[in-house]
Formats: sequence, C-alpha cells, structure tokens
Amino acid sequence: MTAKILITGAKGFFGTRFINRYQGEFEILGLDSKQLDITDNSKVIKTFDDFEPDYVIHAAAIAITDFCNQHPDVAYQVNVQGAINVAKACKTHQAKLVFISSEQVFNGNPEAGPYKETDHPIPDTIYGQNKLEAENTLRSILDDMWILRFTWLFGLPERNTSINPNVIWNALQALIKGSVMKERSNEFRGLTYVHELIEQFPKIFTIPYGTYHTGAHNSLSRYQIAEHILTELGQQHRLAEVLERYDAPKIRDVRLDTSKLGELGVNFTESKTAISQCLKEFHFT
Ligand SMILES: NC(=O)c1ccc[n+]([C@@H]2O[C@H](COP(=O)([O-])OP(=O)(O)OC[C@H]3O[C@@H](n4cnc5c(N)ncnc54)[C@H](OP(=O)(O)O)[C@@H]3O)[C@@H](O)[C@H]2O)c1
Repeated sequence: MTAKILITGAKGFFGTRFINRYQGEFEILGLDSKQLDITDNSKVIKTFDDFEPDYVIHAAAIAITDFCNQHPDVAYQVNVQGAINVAKACKTHQAKLVFISSEQVFNGNPEAGPYKETDHPIPDTIYGQNKLEAENTLRSILDDMWILRFTWLFGLPERNTSINPNVIWNALQALIKGSVMKERSNEFRGLTYVHELIEQFPKIFTIPYGTYHTGAHNSLSRYQIAEHILTELGQQHRLAEVLERYDAPKIRDVRLDTSKLGELGVNFTESKTAISQCLKEFHFT
C-alpha cells in the first residue's frame, strides 16, 4: 500500500518542491495555512481523523527571524503551539513525525561550530528559541519522531514553487538589478541544495528516530561563497565585503556537524560544489 504523507507548510519553499518531487510516489496531502491553520487544534484533529497519515512532515513555521522578534506571541503560537498540536495528533494516530528544526538553535552559542547534536544550543532569537522549545516539548509527547535541524537551504525559482531569500538567488537578483553584492566575511553556515535534501527523504524514513543535524558541510564564509557564485557567473567584480551586521570582529558561526546522519548513509555534497551543481542544472554555467 502507498504510504500516506501529510505535509504542513505545503506552499513554502521546501513544501512546494517536496510535493512536486513525490506526488504520485506517495499519497500526499499538502496543506497551506489557509487549508489548515496549525494553531487551530480542532482543525488539526479533524485533518488527521480524515486523512490518517502514516508520515507527517511538519514544515509549517514562521521562519522570518525579524518578524518573530517583532511578534513573539504570533511566532510562539505557530512555531511552538502549532507544532505541539501536530505532534499530539501524530501520537493519537500513531503517525511518524518529521519535525523540521533549524541551525538557528545555535545562533547565540559563544563557541565556534560545527556543532554536534550533543552540544548545548543557546538560541538568541525568538525563532531559534521557538524551534528549541518545540523540539524539547515534542520529545516529551512523541517517540516516533525525527527532528531534523536544517542548515540554510538554497535553490532557484521554479514553476509552481515558492522562493525564499538564499545565497544563490540573492546573487542572481543582485546581478539582475545591476547592484554590487554585499556579503559578510564573518558569517559561517552550512548551505544545502534543497533538491539534494528532498532526495534523501525515503532514506531518512528508515533511520532510527532521533535528532539529526541535516545538510551540507561548508567551511567558507558567506563572502567566499558569494565570490564563488559570482566567479562561476564571470561577475566576480560585483562583490563588496561588509561586516557590520554581526559586529566584526565577532564571528557568527551556526555550522552543523552532520556526521551522525552521514554514518547512517545520508550524505550531502559540500556547499561550494552543490552550488556549482545547482548553477549547472539551471544552465547558468
Ligand atoms: N529554508 C531554510 O533555509 C530553512 C532552514 C532551516 C529550517 N527551516 C525550516 O524548514 C521548514 C520549511 O521552511 P521553508 O523554507 O519552506 O519555509 P517557508 O517557505 O516560510 O514555508 C513555511 C510555510 O509555513 C506556513 N505557515 C505559517 N503559519 C502557518 C500556520 N499558522 N498554519 C499553517 N501553516 C503556516 C506558511 O504558509 P503561508 O505562506 O500560507 O502563511 C509557509 O508557506 C520550516 O519549519 C523552517 O523553519 C528552513
């Protein structure tokens, strides 16, 4: 029998691409915020009663850091309470949950990354705090769950998908607008090609439940990555370095050590190479 997957946040950057990829292979019910507001617990319960999913990918969230800082109550309702509603419904229906968390749980850690799953996260934004609180609460509700802490995803606009700010799209937008790109040389984070991540899901459904750092290794700064993208495009002169946002010489490092997942056979192409791959797939190089 075809497995049934319920995915929240179905109109988002990840959700739209996940559904396009697996429609037909799994029985997928993808719901956006208008079809299922996850803060409305009675609607969450009804959705589960009607569909009876085998797997749930909880991709709905308010993931805009500045918005969350400015509207902490709204962010909490969606990012924490909404996740709790979904997890409780999973428990009732014995559905296996993928809860998508974030590298941002480490954005206040004073020590350098890459961080392991055993490291103590210190989030210093509402979004990061929400994700960590949701993780901890969900662990007390449900055992059948994978918590995947994603690095920053990248991809390009495609038909019937949504697009979020990301390194490669930011670079192309700067080129289209004719502006000089400004990137920070004091920020380090993993950058994962969204399609490579989506391809890993059938394998992820077979690994032991637990918390996993998920995505590509990257040893380069945002500035160096932007330089790489623009060099690939023959536009390296269109880059300027800025440090001010994270108070240079302070370094912002939210890189994740993904070796736990790697040992289970879920591996990712290093960010610089994956970026070249993406540009090639879209025929920019
Ligand atoms: N993209 C990344 O780089 C990245 C990195 C780390 C972790 N993550 C996590 O990965 C997941 C997917 O990210 P994404 O990039 O696809 O985010 P996204 O594009 O912002 O999509 C999230 C979706 O959640 C929906 N949503 C917001 N409030 C809701 C509510 N009350 N009820 C139901 N749905 C609601 C939004 O729907 P509407 O637009 O209809 O409001 C939106 O389409 C999120 O949990 C995010 O925190 C993403």
